[in-house]
Amino acid sequence: MLELFHQNPARSTQLSIQHDELFLDYSKNLVDENVMTALLDLANQSSLKTHTEAMFDGQPINTSEHKAALHPALRGKPEDNYHLNGVPVHEQVEQALKRVSSISEKIRQGRWLGSTGKAITDVIQLGVGGSELGPRIACQALQAYAHPNIKIHFVSNADGAEILSTVKGLNAETTLVIIASKSFTTEETMLNARSALSWLESSLGLSDAQSTTHVFGVTANVENARSFGIAAPQILEFEEWVGGRYSLWSSIGLCISISIGYDNFKAMLSGARDMDIHFRTAPFESNMPVILALLGIWYNNFLNAQTIAIIPYCERLTLLPAYLQQLDMESNGKSISLNDQPLDYATAPILWGQTGTDGQHAFFQLLHQGSHLVPIDFIAAINDPLSNRTHHRFLLNNLLAQAAVLMTGKKGKNTPAHKVYPGNKPSNMLLMNELSPKNFGALIALYEHKVFVQGSIWNINSYDQWGVELGKQMTRELMSDDSLGIEAFDSSTQQLSKYIHHHTQPSTD
Ligand code: F6P
Repeated sequence: MLELFHQNPARSTQLSIQHDELFLDYSKNLVDENVMTALLDLANQSSLKTHTEAMFDGQPINTSEHKAALHPALRGKPEDNYHLNGVPVHEQVEQALKRVSSISEKIRQGRWLGSTGKAITDVIQLGVGGSELGPRIACQALQAYAHPNIKIHFVSNADGAEILSTVKGLNAETTLVIIASKSFTTEETMLNARSALSWLESSLGLSDAQSTTHVFGVTANVENARSFGIAAPQILEFEEWVGGRYSLWSSIGLCISISIGYDNFKAMLSGARDMDIHFRTAPFESNMPVILALLGIWYNNFLNAQTIAIIPYCERLTLLPAYLQQLDMESNGKSISLNDQPLDYATAPILWGQTGTDGQHAFFQLLHQGSHLVPIDFIAAINDPLSNRTHHRFLLNNLLAQAAVLMTGKKGKNTPAHKVYPGNKPSNMLLMNELSPKNFGALIALYEHKVFVQGSIWNINSYDQWGVELGKQMTRELMSDDSLGIEAFDSSTQQLSKYIHHHTQPSTD
């Protein structure tokens, strides 16, 4: 890479893209002009362009489930003219947003009251996967905008210690529970919902907590939410064409709007919409999602890297690696093509990461001197109103130093091998002016489109997730009282089941 910088003094400016308040410097990558030209040729030869239009056009690009992936419509304006089967969807989206707006504003202003007439101070969002990760990262990232007197709690795991310890510290009179589930069948969420309801009931002397003002359901399956007993005015709907991992822009984002206010929620949608427009209209060579996707393909398929690290230099983006794990690995962790043929090339990389500077004191040793090729996305905000100049200067200089050292390395004549930094390690640098709702929206939409571009070039369906189904079914079989159930399992599972049974202490339920 250093050689490439010497050959072309304009490299860093040439290999940079600005979109609104986002700046991407991708000059520290193992690519020269020929590689970039070839990668752009690959994009042009693939069906990316038509596939992109098919997505924005509401065509059923999720072929295994015959569904559209029209999440950009959730942040669209009337003039974007999103439609499904010829029918415009904007009105539907507006109606749903109106409900998010009025409910969240009532709660924020203390006008939404619990069963004993008190205003809400705590919201528990129950959901998992896309019904949790998006809202959770948004609430964490946009803490600077959070309502001072309303705390949002998230419980996703079936691990009872989570829900039970969360409710322990709360006052049921002032607590609102949001059951967020696209399908309204997900076992983890239903289990947590039942525990939360029985806590509300025993604390407040209620019999059907789900039909009181303490509970909202957010779902694409209104029928299931109704049969669960949630009062009709407290069911918020979103559409089947919103994939779970793309749902934070929908009513699933109710808790985001409660936390940061509807105007900020709208600003987040508008940042994402601007990124949609950039993605749809910018030529491939200056298109941020396309360039990030192509660089990923270069490492994944041509240099055989098996992984990518996401390292935000911002503690409020701690959840970004986890969020992107679902977005990237659930979308593109596939081994068959769109036509159900086995693939003979790699797809989604193993995505991982943690915030800097903490990571510097852990896995950075491996990044600098380890044996694996690990392309990195560094992400940071240039200004941080929650920090101060001393801290922020130190943080950003650490970031610059790490990215520089990874590339330049260090090899002295008499340097012992253990002190040599080989260098030539690639990274992208993505800078935002500030972690504002608008820039956060743009950041998430950027990665959504990056994942879409890769899936499109790999010719896979990025919008289904059949790989997570069998485990759910097996759990149901193990949970059934049918004594024959366990006999159907392999001998290791049988042994483990017996071992657990034998060592289980009497129930404390
Ligand atoms: O386990 C896969 C998955 O279907 C995700 O794609 C989804 O976000 C999550 O489960 C939760 O699903 P639901 O919103 O239907 O509860």
